[in-house]
Amino acid sequence: MIPLFDTSTPLRALRGELRAAVDRVLDSERYILGPEVSAFEREFADYCGAAHAVGVANGTDAITIALRAMGVGPGDEVVVPSFTFYASAEAIPPTGATPVFCDIDPATYCVTAETVRAALTPRTKAVLAVHLFGNVAPVAEIEALGVPVLEDAAQAAGSLASGGGRPGALGAAGTFSFFPSKNLGCFGDGGMITTSDVAVAERARTLRFHGSHDKVTYEQVGYNSRLDELQAAILRVQLPHLDVLADGRRAAGRFYEEAGLGELVKLPRPTQGAEPAWHLYVVAHPDVQRLESSLGAAEVGHKAYYRTPVHRQVAMREWGAGVELPATDEAARAHLAIPMSPVLTREQVDAVVAAARNAG
Ligand SMILES: Cc1ncc(COP(=O)(O)O)c(C=O)c1O
Repeated sequence: MIPLFDTSTPLRALRGELRAAVDRVLDSERYILGPEVSAFEREFADYCGAAHAVGVANGTDAITIALRAMGVGPGDEVVVPSFTFYASAEAIPPTGATPVFCDIDPATYCVTAETVRAALTPRTKAVLAVHLFGNVAPVAEIEALGVPVLEDAAQAAGSLASGGGRPGALGAAGTFSFFPSKNLGCFGDGGMITTSDVAVAERARTLRFHGSHDKVTYEQVGYNSRLDELQAAILRVQLPHLDVLADGRRAAGRFYEEAGLGELVKLPRPTQGAEPAWHLYVVAHPDVQRLESSLGAAEVGHKAYYRTPVHRQVAMREWGAGVELPATDEAARAHLAIPMSPVLTREQVDAVVAAARNAG
């Protein structure tokens, strides 16, 4: 049995530190927006190379709040890929703006300047570039089109862009999810907005607390959306280990290449110059059901995450009807996530490849 992912092994060595962090919060009796959140915001901003970080309740709220902080509102359009987790698009309508779906590069599963350009209109206010599966979307090329980019970096903590920059510091702002299975995960829900624009950071800070900066006056309708002290303390223990764990994910990707998996299935290709900390390792196969059966028979974990692309989901009918995105449809049909974790071994990879070989 080779699991699809392994979140528990990397945490085992940190148990003592994690317990101490929880005790520290219990002793402090501060649970909401206290010193742990402030410290983690500073540490995470520094890690990303952004000037500011604002902790919020989850990665979905992070997108809605970041878009509003960037000035997105009713009448605006936000370009978003359809081959992504549903929340990327779901977070747009609550701002009053409409999602406009764009296609992806089938080799990288990310948006490109070309696929974004095809979706631009005079009403486009922002592009939500998703760093899907830990790959890094080409943010600078998209911003060169003249539109600000919000990076959905929910799956890309630990990844490196070409030139060594990190997701979260490549565009106007970035958002992260700390859902437990993410590259950097907490023990519940959590999220973060990063930006080097002080005005965006200040607006996000206000919006996460009911649209108030002083808890007395309420300037706009906001949200109750905060990262809590316990989760921040837990994340502070893990952040110093993120790069080592990300290297483990990169090594696992290399194992798959070295073991010859690329002769059997289509491997994910890093975008130009990127070093992805693969969150999910997603391959494609023309007869994906056969691949699923072969892996299943060998007890190898696998999962199709986005069989129905977002623009074809019922809730997106208003914005998705009539939209044709051929690369998205093909990726949705043929993709399959196979085991990936920071501690995946070469032996496990060899067993996955042997199982894939039976799919022909
Ligand atoms: C690409 C992407 N965007 C947004 C989200 C939403 O994050 P959350 O579940 O923390 O709301 C996720 C993960 O769940 C995601 O994978």
